[in-house]
Amino acid sequence: MASKIFDHGRIERNVTLLLVLGLLTVAIGGIVEIAPLFWIDSTIEKVEGMRPYTPLEQAGRNIYIREGCYNCHSQMIRPFRDETERYGHYSLAAESMYDHPFQWGSKRTGPDLARVGGRYSDEWQVQHLKDPRSVVPESIMPTYTFLASRELKAETIGDDLTALRRVGVPYTDEDVKKAYDDLRLQGTAGGDQADLQKRYPKAQVRDYDGDPAKLTEMDALVAYLQMLGTLVDVNKAEAKEQFK
Ligand code: HEC
Repeated sequence: MASKIFDHGRIERNVTLLLVLGLLTVAIGGIVEIAPLFWIDSTIEKVEGMRPYTPLEQAGRNIYIREGCYNCHSQMIRPFRDETERYGHYSLAAESMYDHPFQWGSKRTGPDLARVGGRYSDEWQVQHLKDPRSVVPESIMPTYTFLASRELKAETIGDDLTALRRVGVPYTDEDVKKAYDDLRLQGTAGGDQADLQKRYPKAQVRDYDGDPAKLTEMDALVAYLQMLGTLVDVNKAEAKEQFK
């Protein structure tokens, strides 16, 4: 009899049947939750101002990951009062839409860095990375002095952009082709920046590490830090949300 299959006594006494039906139930729940994500365009609401990272910022981000800065720092301000008062407006999902890999988390050995851009001068950032205790005496952050003397090897930055494009970051062919020139231009301020600004609005073009003769890993890392949290006008984005 068909209704017999829903006889709990029988299901509970038959391990195989219990397993199969259990998996079936979980699978249906899973599909209902996950499947729609494949059909809607984006689960992240777009906000004005967010753009892919410039090649120099991306190179800095690569160094940030290589050095394991994420072991002590997150980039996700949670919507709690103690966090927003200390770090600024809570992070919007769109602000990390081009992050591969993302830097979310609540590991706070050091402060959250999602909005650290512009909080300190370039000189402070460089000094702090070279010797954290010279500016924050009680700091336990390691020293990264070597970044200032290591030349930025970024001939393959175009390949990075290509890889990121494969996972959905909207770099254009032009961005990929010009990646290395863009990177040098932003970190040395040597040349016309109109084209760079058009493709990467708000790109901060200057020598970051106080050594204009050399483009170093320090230049790239500080360029990345100084950009964090500066692209989106969060208060404007939120006001728009309220009037929808
Ligand atoms: C062992 C843990 C640790 C690691 C690894 C670490 N930091 Fe820190 N960082 C800290 C701590 C603790 C502070 C707070 C004290 C200070 O300002 O030095 C800090 C502070 C900072 C600040 C200032 C933030 C603010 O809002 O005042 C920046 C910027 C920063 N770190 C960047 C980095 C970068 C970039 C790296 C990787 C190259 C890194 N940190 C690696 C622990 C760490």
